[in-house]
Amino acid sequence: MTDLRETFGGQTAVITGAGGGIGAALAHLTADLGMKVVIADLDAVRLDEVRRDLATAGADVLAVPTDVRDAAAVDALAEAAFDAYGSVELLVNNAGIESVGRIWETSPETWQRMQRVNADGVFHGIRSFVPWMGANLRSTYVANVASVAAVSSSPMNAAYHASKHAVLAMTECLYLEAAEQFPRMSVSVACPAAVRTRIFEDALTDAVDTAATDEMLETMRGHLRDDGITAEVAAGRILQGVADRQFWVPTHPERFAEITARRAAMLTDRTPPRANVAKEIQQRAGALTQEHHRR
Ligand SMILES: NC(=O)c1ccc[n+]([C@@H]2O[C@H](COP(=O)([O-])OP(=O)(O)OC[C@H]3O[C@@H](n4cnc5c(N)ncnc54)[C@H](O)[C@@H]3O)[C@@H](O)[C@H]2O)c1
Repeated sequence: MTDLRETFGGQTAVITGAGGGIGAALAHLTADLGMKVVIADLDAVRLDEVRRDLATAGADVLAVPTDVRDAAAVDALAEAAFDAYGSVELLVNNAGIESVGRIWETSPETWQRMQRVNADGVFHGIRSFVPWMGANLRSTYVANVASVAAVSSSPMNAAYHASKHAVLAMTECLYLEAAEQFPRMSVSVACPAAVRTRIFEDALTDAVDTAATDEMLETMRGHLRDDGITAEVAAGRILQGVADRQFWVPTHPERFAEITARRAAMLTDRTPPRANVAKEIQQRAGALTQEHHRR
């Protein structure tokens, strides 16, 4: 296992979506390792709270309010980071949002916002940072945060799955291109499963069938609350996988193996999508509740 402090200490990290959840936890972890940390988020208020906490703990931190949907804003983030610290060794394209609802009940605005934040945001990060990071004479690390949703499908969550499948495809291509062009650059795709954050509190909905949407929202909120690991644990697992130069970085290796094995079988046997992550979670939640009532 690679020593995180030896790998990253004294270097510079840029983390998008660092105003909360996994991004904020990654910011704290990288700062604890002695990295200079550039944090970016759409929500300037939450971002400033994280900046203050980090600065109070003695970190060298730069906060740059950034909307990752905007290519020019992400260019400006890269310029701010390179101006302040001269180089960037770790980039985590982490910003992401959720939405819940059936495909045909999703408004074009919600669909586009999902793709623009989750997929275009990662593309913008790659575009603005990778050429500069590739020129670095030291090792550099690019980690794109996808999800187990990148290798699975479930009802009521299509905009999210589509955006995360795009992040995975983009990251696989980046891996191949970087291997040719930038041999010192490591490329990883983080695939978290349930992590206790506010992502489903902020989820977009265009509820037509409000009962189904509310049920799904409640199920997912309960799932993260009851079964989720903390953002700190997730950040630790992600950073360790990135430092170990792994391409696939799951936060829940066993769950990831289950989901990918099912997808591999589906592709090999050419069976229709049957794996239904949300239903499984609901069934498990139902079984747990029954078990609870029986006791
Ligand atoms: N929490 C989970 O269970 C889970 C599971 C799989 C994948 N993920 C992924 O992990 C990443 C982090 O999610 P989280 O759970 O910490 O969620 P979170 O909601 O706690 O944090 C996401 C952050 O992204 C920011 N953001 C939203 N839109 C933005 C934009 N346009 N520009 C810049 N920042 C923006 C938000 O303000 C927020 O601070 C996301 O990509 C998410 O899809 C999370």
